[in-house]
Amino acid sequence: MSNPSKIGIVVGSLRKDSITRRVAQAMAKLSPGGAIWRFVEIGALPIYNPDLDEAGVPAWTAFRDEVKALDGVLFATPEYNRSMPGALKNAIDVGSRPYGKSAWSGKPAGIVSVSPGALGAFGANHHLRQSLVFLNMPAMAQPEAYVGNSGNILGADGDFVEASRGFFKAYVEAFEAWVKRHAPVG
Ligand SMILES: Cc1cc2nc3c(=O)[nH]c(=O)nc-3n(C[C@H](O)[C@H](O)[C@H](O)COP(=O)(O)O)c2cc1C
Repeated sequence: MSNPSKIGIVVGSLRKDSITRRVAQAMAKLSPGGAIWRFVEIGALPIYNPDLDEAGVPAWTAFRDEVKALDGVLFATPEYNRSMPGALKNAIDVGSRPYGKSAWSGKPAGIVSVSPGALGAFGANHHLRQSLVFLNMPAMAQPEAYVGNSGNILGADGDFVEASRGFFKAYVEAFEAWVKRHAPVG
């Protein structure tokens, strides 16, 4: 069997009780076994400022090294004001520098946008997708995951309710195959 892919989960919400994080946790549990899923935390990253990068910021360096070690990245994000939360945009900016040495470049990505509302955080999903184009991250096109009514999809045990499980299982399987197909060589 080939080596399992290393998939990092970046969650756009910093909330302790984040529904988005719980959705990502439940998704990782649906892995058929061909990948190792782990969270990459973004909450302690100072706001990106190029001036500070000249001297080096240890939290930024550690984050970049963590991303570089991944084969693929799943972004799970809520929507803030019809876009991605600032914490997620900051993480993207931190990982993208120094210029020409982006930690993100070439890493296959998936986007799962999550909202308690009906629209499934479409705005956040596509603003994020726009950044991934520039970052040279091949983002899986199908299946799309605009997860609305997020308050209804998880049971008390933290797993998906029966009606939602099939969709997320298919997404996870497609994403693992996507990462295998597009992971950077070397
Ligand atoms: C600053 C802010 C802006 C928000 N804007 C939106 C929005 O544009 N669309 C939306 O569906 N929900 C919006 N919400 C509600 C979030 O979807 C909701 O708080 C959700 O639970 C956040 O995800 P989490 O549970 O993972 O933290 C907003 C929440 C905050 C705090």
